[in-house]
Amino acid sequence: MASNWTPDSWKSFEGRHLPQYADRTALAEVEQRLSTYPPLVFAGEARALKHDLGEVAKGSGFLLQGGDCAESFAEFHPDNIRDTFRVLLQMAVVLTFASKQPVVKVGRMAGQFAKPRSAPTEAIDGVEHASYFGDIINDIAFDGEGRKPDPERMARAYGQSAATLNLLRAFATGGYANLRQVHQWTLDHIGRSPWGERFAQTADRIGEALDFMEACGVDPQTVPQLQGTSFYTSHEALLLPYEQAMTRRDSLTGDWYDTSAHMLWIGDRTRFEGSAHVEYLRGVGNPIGMKCGPSLSADALLKMLDTLNPSREAGRMTLISRFGHDKVEAGLPALVRAVKREGHPVVWSCDPMHGNVVKAASGLKTRPFDRILGEVKGFFAVHRAEGTHAGGIHIEMTGQDVTECTGGAVAITDEGLSDRYRTHCDPRLNGAQSIELAFLLAEELNAEAAVRKADAA
Ligand code: PEP
Ligand code: CO
Repeated sequence: MASNWTPDSWKSFEGRHLPQYADRTALAEVEQRLSTYPPLVFAGEARALKHDLGEVAKGSGFLLQGGDCAESFAEFHPDNIRDTFRVLLQMAVVLTFASKQPVVKVGRMAGQFAKPRSAPTEAIDGVEHASYFGDIINDIAFDGEGRKPDPERMARAYGQSAATLNLLRAFATGGYANLRQVHQWTLDHIGRSPWGERFAQTADRIGEALDFMEACGVDPQTVPQLQGTSFYTSHEALLLPYEQAMTRRDSLTGDWYDTSAHMLWIGDRTRFEGSAHVEYLRGVGNPIGMKCGPSLSADALLKMLDTLNPSREAGRMTLISRFGHDKVEAGLPALVRAVKREGHPVVWSCDPMHGNVVKAASGLKTRPFDRILGEVKGFFAVHRAEGTHAGGIHIEMTGQDVTECTGGAVAITDEGLSDRYRTHCDPRLNGAQSIELAFLLAEELNAEAAVRKADAA
């Protein structure tokens, strides 16, 4: 267990991007209430995810992490949860087939509410209010009262997370995640997609593999595993009063866990030396992610790894690089080499979203599909050159048919963005673009699988 750590030791460190609640009594009351609520996840599940990620760190598996940039109270609807979950499963089937490895599925769901912002305030037509920091903190409407941090929002976010997780668990184990069904959805998608022909061959081969398995007697009736799947949750551990209130001691091991999600990550803006967020996550037993952007030096990264994973446990650390399509090949190799040289077991995952934001002529924030794909390809190229495992992707996506990222098979244009631009924060890939990305990624994974096979021969 971490030494000199308590669930509130982060309070003596530098906490950036934390709200200042005016009513301290109301804050304390909500924290107290949350600390008596049931944990959302059980420590044993977090350990199971850590085990799965440990396999990925060793080169045997692939991490697929995705969901909203920011979940919101307004978009809370079973159809949204279902559609995002379904698209993640579709992507996972394609990636499993291409990589010939298990795919670990983790949602940015059931708790992804708090957002760091580049500026503390926002001005419109000369009027200035606090920025929007996510529904767990304040209101998105540009209004002085609503933009004040309200601690009661933490209790509402907890309730929404619990209900979301309950539905995800039901979908994952109740028959919805049946492999045949998931593949049928993909075939339906391909039938409608302008890029369908490009993906038909891979889809047909998956279908043939399923037919072959069925002929051998391996089907959802005989092998219950094919009816369900494991699915984990994650979010950025940004709002430390909430995370602290959800911290529990595991009755089996006596270790501390953040029971608000299976996996928590530290954002690019809060991963500095002396950070309250690093201090908090140091002491909980969950698998931890850390965003690695262009400003992170190899030395600083190694220090972070020593702090967050002193015992070098495989599966504990996932490093999520987010350089931008034009910077990844120059910036990532130094980090990969340093981590490899020091022998730290990590999962390397690629966030091709946060380094590729551009402003469209309309003023809307967007991300061109080609740049997203470009960063993923650059990430794979770096790992191929360094002889390390390209272990996963981390994306902002939704199962809904939104128009937030330009490009893709339907070729969303700058002008088309405003049609269905619904995100509460950054632009997400829509359902079709997400599946397209999985098929295009399959080519990279195929290449890696071929190298592995040649090495083993
Ligand atoms: C995010 O993942 O939503 C995010 C804010 O990313 P980053 O910390 O990498 O900027
Ligand atoms: Co984002």
